[in-house]
Amino acid sequence: MTSAPTQTTQTTQTTTPTTYPEGVTVRKVGGRIGAVVEGVRLGGDLDEVTVAAVRTAILRHKVVFFRGQEHLDPTSHEAFAGLLGTPVAHPTVPSVDGRYALGIDNERGGRANQWHTDVTFVPAYPAFSILRAEVVPPYGGNTLWSNTAAAYTELPEPLRVLADSLRGVHTNDYDYAAVRPGATGAALEQHRKVFTSVKFQTEHPVVRVHPETGERTLVLGNFLQKLTGFAARDSRGLIDILQSHVERPENTVRWQWRAGDVAIWDNRATQHYGVDDSDAHERTLRRVTVDGEVPVGVDGETSRLLAPESVPDPVHGIASGASTNGRVAEAA
Ligand SMILES: [Fe+2]
Repeated sequence: MTSAPTQTTQTTQTTTPTTYPEGVTVRKVGGRIGAVVEGVRLGGDLDEVTVAAVRTAILRHKVVFFRGQEHLDPTSHEAFAGLLGTPVAHPTVPSVDGRYALGIDNERGGRANQWHTDVTFVPAYPAFSILRAEVVPPYGGNTLWSNTAAAYTELPEPLRVLADSLRGVHTNDYDYAAVRPGATGAALEQHRKVFTSVKFQTEHPVVRVHPETGERTLVLGNFLQKLTGFAARDSRGLIDILQSHVERPENTVRWQWRAGDVAIWDNRATQHYGVDDSDAHERTLRRVTVDGEVPVGVDGETSRLLAPESVPDPVHGIASGASTNGRVAEAA
């Protein structure tokens, strides 16, 4: 694993100018989030200098896009993920191919048309997600990402102070019917059953300090069920206010997929949303995630697994959140 550019300052963004290796260009596609990287052929054999440059670009731009990576297959996709950290399996959904690749397939209920951060229902949710497009629809099926550090920074100060003090419970056992009123069919029901085969509950700080950049980022999204210490109605109102800043178009970027594209995002500083507007056309993507750290709040308090007792390992490899600190919190 290569060493990452780190910064210890708590609240400032990385400002060190970076010189990318010769032949590698990084071009912003949005004011606050998103850049296209050119001149890199992704794979397990990528040299250390280029891997470090890719990592810097991800930390700086939150999501980076690579065109023309058709050469990747399940093996090389996962081998490349191993250069950014430790690949981890989804805690409940079996891999479609390779050891860790999660299928994002609109035939299998994989329409992630809710704003979310991947796998926040476990403590050490993934640091990076690497998504590769195999089959794209003739129209629609774009993905949006939002910069949750920018969303935090733009909060009015009293709201920022409040957010710093909040904690919230995330779960994978949310009400599918409520968020997908149009969803029907056995395939979707099967997906729901698998997805919630183990019901997780994890309490995270609403604001975490990013372990690599020192930025403060909002930890919200559709797995967040309730703010700790609030009645349901107040909790929902506060979540909606904070989440509305994440969803502000100025904080987002939208990507129109081509087959062979790869998007890599910093899952600790973003939310994303798969737009479900490609009708019945096939849309098949593969996602590999890289292990993250247990989040730490502004006050130094870490996230806590509330249920089950620990994050069980899947049949192969290690589960997201299990490798660093998946154990249930000590009873206070
Ligand atoms: Fe996702």
